[in-house]
Parts: sequence; structure tokens; C-alpha cells
Amino acid sequence: MQEEALNAIRGADTLEALQSVKTQYLGKNGLVTAQLKTLGTLTPDERRERGAAINLLKQILEAATQARENELRQAALEARLASEAIDVTLPGLALPAGGLHVITRILYELSDIFTSLGYAVVEGQEVEDETHNFDALNMPAWHPARDLQDTFWLENGQVLRTHTSNMQIRYMETHEPPLKIVVPGRVYRYEATDATHESMFHQFEGLVVGEGITMADLKGAIAEMGRAMFGKNARVRFQPSYYPFVEPGADFAIWWDQEQRWLELGGSGMVHPNVFRAVDDLREARGLTRIYEGKTGFAFGLGPNRIAMLRYGIPDIRYFYANDLRVLTQFRGDLNSTAPHARAPKETM
Ligand code: PHE
Repeated sequence: MQEEALNAIRGADTLEALQSVKTQYLGKNGLVTAQLKTLGTLTPDERRERGAAINLLKQILEAATQARENELRQAALEARLASEAIDVTLPGLALPAGGLHVITRILYELSDIFTSLGYAVVEGQEVEDETHNFDALNMPAWHPARDLQDTFWLENGQVLRTHTSNMQIRYMETHEPPLKIVVPGRVYRYEATDATHESMFHQFEGLVVGEGITMADLKGAIAEMGRAMFGKNARVRFQPSYYPFVEPGADFAIWWDQEQRWLELGGSGMVHPNVFRAVDDLREARGLTRIYEGKTGFAFGLGPNRIAMLRYGIPDIRYFYANDLRVLTQFRGDLNSTAPHARAPKETM
């Protein structure tokens, strides 16, 4: 029996199997226990001898069971350590990370160029009153130019700003010249959408006011921007144009040498005296000095969407705002315009 039991114990390959072998021999109804129960039928001498033998057997089997149990536990532990081992040299799982929107990149790039020329970056409200979006920009209610910019009207009489030029007024209203600012932001037009028209898009405005600012300064600023964005061979071209808030007014284009073509980028001009007068009126109403009449300045406004469309060959302006990741993720890797531009400090009004 001892040999048989030891074989069964050593052959048990799980803790469960070992337990059942143990029960089979050493349990309450086990074979060894049954032997002990037969002792009562023996003579005292036989009983002493046999009793000692059975107890020895019992000790041997208990020791063997314990030894086998230790082996099995050790093996189980080793198996678990092996299966849970971590290979720290394996590549990690990449978390999906966001990137800056292509228009944000262009706005950062433009802001960075102008910050390096000493301009401040200013942002402001998109819900605007008629005064700041139109009247103070020399566009009174009767002015036909108001129809050129089809407007989203709110029920309370305010508008969604049709251009970032509202910030010319807002900034001058509370700041004194000399000043140099650029304004990136969203604008809204109530018009049918197509590949080149969207009811919400972006603009980038510039305003410089001081003593003796001339059209040459405007040209210099636009040329500097052109070279920074399109390379040192970029040139600028101005063509007479009409905007109520500038006089003279001019549309400007930049020569994109790499593609050998002109890019029509936006409008510009010398700040109209009526704008300075309107600003002084607004300042006076706030108890501030009339300080703008007699100053000179230039302003410009351009479309970053157009820059992105031409630079990256994006055929439809609606792609920018449809949030289709197949489109947007294509621009994450473009290091032309990334992190450093995000650092331009900006003032929010
Ligand atoms: N605000 C004009 C527009 O939206 C652009 C512009 C800005 C023109 C500044 C001249 C000066 O079309």
C-alpha cells in the first residue's frame, strides 16, 4: 500500500488530484484510517506492532503529500510569474493624440510673423453690435456696402461679426496710439455655401496707427509677411479697391515664386479719417481723450482659409469645418507651422 500510495502522490499533477489521493488514503474513510480501525480486533502485542507500522505509514504518506504539495505550488507560482512577465522592451500602445487644426496652424504662423515685427495679437468678440461691425467703420445704415456683407442678425439687434475689422474699433476705443495689432478670428456671412464660400470662416486683421504711418509701411508689412510665408522671392502687388473704412483702399496679392503665380490674399488701405472720428466719439462717450483725429494708420484683412487651400491644394473650403478626420489628420505632421507659434502671447478683449 505504501508503494502504491507514494506513486499516486508523486503522480498527482494538480493540487486537486493530490487532495483526492490524500483523501483516498488518509481521509476519515480512507484506506490507512480503515487499517487503524482494524486494530481493535487484534491482541495487544499484534496491536502495538501493527499500530506502530500503520502510524509510520501515515507519517510517510503525510510527509510525501506535503512535499508534493510544495512542488505543485512552486510550479504554479513559476508558471504564473512566467505568464505575467512584462517585456519592457516591447513598443508601447500609442494613445490617439490630437493635433492643431490646419487653420489654427496658419493663424499661429501669421501671428508669429507679426509678433516678430512687434505687433500684439488680440482676439475679440464674435457677437457684435452694429456700431462696431458697421457704423464706426464708416458704413452707416444707408451705406450700400452693408449689402455686400450679408449679415446674420440676432433677435436682439446684434450681429455675428462679418469681419474682424470690428476689433479695429474695439482696440482703438480703449488703447492709445501708437499701436500695432493683428487679430485672428472667426467671421460669419449669411450666404449660400459652395466650394469657396462658407457661412463661417476665418480672417486675419492687421492695424497700425501712429504718427506719419504711410502706404509704404503697409506695403513693407505685407511684403515681410509674404517673404516669411512664401520664401524670400515673394513679391507683393496692390490694386486699387474699395472698402468704406480705408482710403485709399487696395487689394493685395503675393507672388508665390515656387508655384509661379499671384495669390489674391485680402484687402487693405489707409485708415479712413471717419473711422478715427468715430473712434474718438466712442472714446469721448467713455470719458477718454479724443486722440485719434490727425493720426494716420493702415489696416489689412486676409483669408487664412485661402492660404491653406492654395498651399495644400485643398479644393473646398467646407472641408475645414466638416470635422472629417481623414482630411484634418493630413496636416498634423506639417512642421512648417507648429508649436513655437502657439507661444505668441495674446490679449483677449
Ligand atoms: N474687412 C474687409 C473684408 O472683410 C477686409 C479689409 C480689412 C479691408 C482691412 C481693408 C482693411 O473684406
